Amino acid sequence: MPPAPTPPQAAAATAPAATTAPQAPGAGQSMEMLRLLSGFQQSQALYALAKLGVATALHGGPMTVGELAKTTETDAGALGRLLHILSGIGVVTHHGEDAFALTPLGSTLVADVPGSVRDMAIMWMETHYAPFSELVTTVRTGVPAATAHFGQSFAEWLGSHPEHLPVMASAMADLTYGPKDAALAGYRLPPGEVVADIGGADGSVLVRLLADEPGRRGIVFDREHVVSTAPARLAEQGVADRIEVQAGDFFESVPAADVYLLSTVLHDWDDASCARILGRIAEAAPHGARLVVVETVLSEGDEQHPSKLLDLTMLGMVPGHERRETEFAALFAGAGFTLDRRVPGPVDSPFAILEATLTR
Ligand SMILES: C[S@@+](CC[C@H](N)C(=O)[O-])C[C@H]1O[C@@H](n2cnc3c(N)ncnc32)[C@H](O)[C@@H]1O
Repeated sequence: MPPAPTPPQAAAATAPAATTAPQAPGAGQSMEMLRLLSGFQQSQALYALAKLGVATALHGGPMTVGELAKTTETDAGALGRLLHILSGIGVVTHHGEDAFALTPLGSTLVADVPGSVRDMAIMWMETHYAPFSELVTTVRTGVPAATAHFGQSFAEWLGSHPEHLPVMASAMADLTYGPKDAALAGYRLPPGEVVADIGGADGSVLVRLLADEPGRRGIVFDREHVVSTAPARLAEQGVADRIEVQAGDFFESVPAADVYLLSTVLHDWDDASCARILGRIAEAAPHGARLVVVETVLSEGDEQHPSKLLDLTMLGMVPGHERRETEFAALFAGAGFTLDRRVPGPVDSPFAILEATLTR
């Protein structure tokens, strides 16, 4: 049996000081590195479970491999091997002779259940996986891997591949009702009658925040081809009478409002582009308008933190990046907004909320 891999924190704790020559790695470190390197295979294995409906089929209870293969129209031999492999990372467990059951971790790949990230799994593997083969180019040149892979920016590529938009919208909603929801739970927007969700996609975040605020009105603002998914979401949530949908380009102009919401928008863009988006908001907003930014705030030290993995996504896919609190404050100040406070997310959510006021 190979030695158990050393957890990364333990490895960091025993790492030699930076001034001394690195010691030869032990077998534990080699195994840990191999485990990390196998990430690309594990991602595809989890994607198969999500995409082929295996996790969803198991949601009803344990099933034999034969039954599962029939239900999901898959090859029983390959499926049985995949499930046995994934039992090793806690996604399923053996259940008797030839059957498997989902674990709570595996349940996150079930369709349409609270806490599901199934559509994230599908989106990542169908739009992000291939571009990441160009990350070496990014590190050499600074050009996002997606741009190198597609020959155009990810945003431009998406514009001509609308078939990916429904799953992208659902993936964003997965985040909204999962990790983002944990950060939004109990949060109340600053006062103001009209709340504009800029880059609001299908309106999931705005709906979440205005659901129990019947006295406020909302605007979901996004590109034409994206915001077209919003009316269905608003109708389904019973808020279509007080949240309107507007198509547009936030580099050109944004609607007038009292409170502006930017949820995971700024991290898609470099500082100059963020300055333009914030500038358009400052032009449309009355003095004293409030800005609410929902983003990951980049952690400072060596610790494992989801903000670092999100920054890896940004590095590969877009010109933007995750930011430290001081970087947000500087961006806001450049457009006339003063950072008022940071509402930290709970420990199990990478997201925080930053509130600012238009003071110029
Ligand atoms: C990462 S998504 C965030 C969606 C949503 N705010 C959320 O938190 O789930 C970024 C959004 O910005 C929108 N966007 C990108 N460029 C835009 C533009 N020029 N004008 C308006 N919206 C834009 C995208 O269509 C996308 O919906």
